[in-house]
Parts: sequence; C-alpha cells; structure tokens
Amino acid sequence: MTDEPHSALYLTDARDLWWNADFLALLARRADFTSVRHALDVGAGQGHWTRTVARLLPKGASIVGVEREPRWVELAARAPAVDGVPVSYQVGGAERMPFADASFDLVTCQTLLIHVADPRAVVAEMTRVLRPGGRLLLCEPNNIAASVSRLVTSPSVDVDDLVAALTMQARCERGKAALGRGFDSAGETLVSLLDPALVDDVQVWLNDRCTVYAPGTDRGSRTELADDRRLIEVGPLGWSLDDTRRYFVAGGGDEAAFDGLCARVWRIARARLDGLVSGRASQNEGGLFYVLCARRRA
Ligand SMILES: C[S@@+](CC[C@H](N)C(=O)[O-])C[C@H]1O[C@@H](n2cnc3c(N)ncnc32)[C@H](O)[C@@H]1O
Repeated sequence: MTDEPHSALYLTDARDLWWNADFLALLARRADFTSVRHALDVGAGQGHWTRTVARLLPKGASIVGVEREPRWVELAARAPAVDGVPVSYQVGGAERMPFADASFDLVTCQTLLIHVADPRAVVAEMTRVLRPGGRLLLCEPNNIAASVSRLVTSPSVDVDDLVAALTMQARCERGKAALGRGFDSAGETLVSLLDPALVDDVQVWLNDRCTVYAPGTDRGSRTELADDRRLIEVGPLGWSLDDTRRYFVAGGGDEAAFDGLCARVWRIARARLDGLVSGRASQNEGGLFYVLCARRRA
C-alpha cells in the first residue's frame, strides 16, 4: 500500500474516453434520466463519471458525488462546471452515507464495487437512499475478461506464458478480494448483489465502446496506450509491485515463484505495447464492462 489516495494510479482523463456518446444517450433513455431531479454518484473519485452523468441530466437537476478520499473531493470540486446541472462533492464512505432514506431519484457508481470489501452492503446502502421508483445504475468491469481477450488472440504470446499470466491474475484477483480490497471482476456478479425484495425491473447491458489500436482510427487509443504503459511499468498487472505480491500470496500463489512470473508477464505485456505503439501490430479490444439498471420498488 502507498500513501497515495485510493486509485491514484487509475484516475486519469482516459476515463472520459470510456463511453460512446450515443450509447450514453441510449442509457439515459433506458434509465429514464428525464425524471431525475437529485442524483448521487458513489465513490466519485475525481468526478469523471459524476460529470458524465451530469451532462445527461435534465436542466435543473443536480448531482452529488460522495467519495472517501478528501484529496479527490478537492480536485473534483475544481473541475469546470456542467451547464445547467449543479455538481457538488462531499467526503463520505459508501457503506454508510450521510443522506436520509429515499433522497435520490438516481444512484450510480462506476468502478467502485470492484474496490470494496462488501459490495452487497454498498449496494444495500445505495438502495436505501433511493426513492421508490428511482433507478440504481451500476457500471463495473470484469477485468480478467479484458486480459483474456487481449492475450488469447495475440499470436505472438506463447501459450504457456498466456496461461501463466492469467493464472497469476486470477490468483491476485482472489487474493485482493480475500484481503478485503475488492474483487476486480465483480462486474460479472452485479445482479447477485441486489435485494429482489427492494428492486425490480432489472436490466443488464454492456458498454459498447471498443478501443481500436490501429494508426489513425481511434481518438482514444494513444491516450489509453500511454496509460497502459505507465501502469505496466508500475507492476506487471497494473497494481503496484508490493500490492501484486501481497495479492498473489493471499490468493494462494507461491511467493518463491513471484519474481519469475512477474518477469514473464512483463515480457508479454511490454511486447504487446511495443507492437501497438510502433504500429507493427493493431488490435480492437472489448472487455466486459457491465451496466446494470434496476428500479427501487414502490
Ligand atoms: C477506481 S475509482 C473510480 C472513481 C470514479 N467512480 C470514476 O469512475 O472515475 C474508485 C473510487 O472509489 C473510492 N472508494 C473506494 N472505496 C470506497 C468507499 N468504501 N467509500 C467511498 N469511496 C470509496 C476510491 O477512493 C476511488 O476514488
């Protein structure tokens, strides 16, 4: 663990590239944003998702971002205003939020549930502050699926290296969850986190954005490649090296094998990035980023 606020490695403006604008408009229609007056974004970080949602709300609505890290609340509050929709932030924990029951018409989160010890408890708390008829909107990835799709299809990746990399990631993800730091592939479990006595009209979709790593084809791929490069240099699987070791061991990995495995995963990750950055290789990459919408029962 470092002294940096939570998710310091991951909160970059590449987040503004995560969604297609027309998909967001469809999402706003499906989740009935026109009826929203008061919205809440939980685990708001620096406010990337809070502002994205704010831009989709009707004029006169407002949105609050609640976030555990005071530093992120400070930074988020300095971001440019969203026309017609006041955006504010406050410090608070997702497990016990400083809001009365039934305060909001829309309660959302993005990449929060993959980081909490008890995502079911957080979803219960999000449901508590939702008014009857209001919408819960959960946006969370299955991160190991992204690694599978990225590596399995790369002919330059040796099959044994591929299996070693995925085994290592699966162990680390399990270990991270066992240590109470969240399950990185929790997107796959969203529907199991709901209380069917409290919500109905449950629908689950996938974010339709694919990143295209090919010269001149995608507005975001350069930014995302730069982000991937930075993360990989921190640790082979995008966590700090200390965290990776801790997660690996907690997930049942043999500590004596750790350095060798890191070197192997680093080699394939760097080779992939070198190919994409130089333009020798191109790739379209999906991953599974789930979007669950449910209605609070009356
Ligand atoms: C990966 S970031 C996502 C930030 C933001 N939702 C976005 O998509 O840009 C996860 C955020 O959740 C916050 N967080 C983690 N656990 C939390 C908790 N129990 N209560 C409130 N915030 C929490 C972290 O501090 C971090 O800012």
